[in-house]
Amino acid sequence: MGIKILGTGSFVPQQRLTNDDFRRFVDTNDEWIRTRTGISERRMAGWEPVWYMGAKAAGQAIERAGISPEDIGLVITTTATPDFLTPSIACVIQNEVGAVNAAAFDMNAACSGFVYALDTARRFLETDDSLKYVLVTASEALSRFTNFNDRTTCILFGDGAAAAVIERSDKLFSSHIAADGSGAGYLCARNLRPAPEIAQEPEIEDSFPDAGDRKLYQDGKEVYKFATKALPLAFELAAQKCGITKEDIDWFIPHQANVRIIETAAKKLGAPMDKFIVTLDHYGNTSSASIPLALNEAINDGRVQRGQKLALIGFGAGLTYGGAILEY
Ligand code: UT7
Repeated sequence: MGIKILGTGSFVPQQRLTNDDFRRFVDTNDEWIRTRTGISERRMAGWEPVWYMGAKAAGQAIERAGISPEDIGLVITTTATPDFLTPSIACVIQNEVGAVNAAAFDMNAACSGFVYALDTARRFLETDDSLKYVLVTASEALSRFTNFNDRTTCILFGDGAAAAVIERSDKLFSSHIAADGSGAGYLCARNLRPAPEIAQEPEIEDSFPDAGDRKLYQDGKEVYKFATKALPLAFELAAQKCGITKEDIDWFIPHQANVRIIETAAKKLGAPMDKFIVTLDHYGNTSSASIPLALNEAINDGRVQRGQKLALIGFGAGLTYGGAILEY
């Protein structure tokens, strides 16, 4: 059983930060950022909450799918940067879009989130006949966890949201999701510690680096090495399951972290760069929102057409990775 993407949508914050704008916070320059990452600018959610961006993207996806929100049976929201620890952002979005009959939960697989969510959505659709449509929203505000004093990370990320409405179909769909938790410390942000009233010594030590509570730490070189391996591997693992080869793919839509990662992976895969959708130049790395943002943009500008075969490939904190091959 496969899935069909009925409609997609997106929302990005109003505030646009160019590379030069970062000179206000750190010692950097446009040339370094563009040549090392491919990023020129990104959006930052100065006031837009994660739930708000997700709901806006979801509303557009529902409208384009031409369905009634009451017919959505499940809302999955991928986010590593939720506005609330509880409730889930999916519940807030469920209410905002009027998906009154849907169950709702959040999923955190970091930048692989959208691929994990598609894989999960397909499993729900396969096992529950009463489920008609699944709404997947990916909504992220990395800026909430960014250390604007750290030039090695703050220039990389951007905020935004994208969404897709999915139904079951007999179209091609194959996915593979995976993780390697031994690399969890390479990209992490701490959250809560015990309340002072009950805190006891000694704390159980962990091996995670400390960049400060709710501030992002990244070992860029280790993540880079992982990403250039994970991207082709995730494709191969999903492709093996359905007997597809790289030549069958019309568009590769990878997680948008660094154009050098995409170029290296394209070489390893032996696929031409002009088959890769790249949006990181204007959005930066928007974590789980990056793949659906790129997909939605390529649908809107006519590159992605019905009947084409797409390879969506995610990799990120966890470390997680995953590939989904589908006919649009
Ligand atoms: O979505 C999650 C996945 N995340 C990723 O995929 C990120 C993977 N990693 C990367 O993309 C790259 O490792 C970075 C873009 C983060 C860094 O690129 P790099 O080519 O590995 O640079 P580097 O860390 O080796 O730094 C080279 C130099 C250093 O200076 P020194 O020590 O040689 O004097 C840095 O301090 O560049 C310096 N540098 C900067 N200079 C100007 C680091 N950041 C900046 C900056 N502006 N923003």
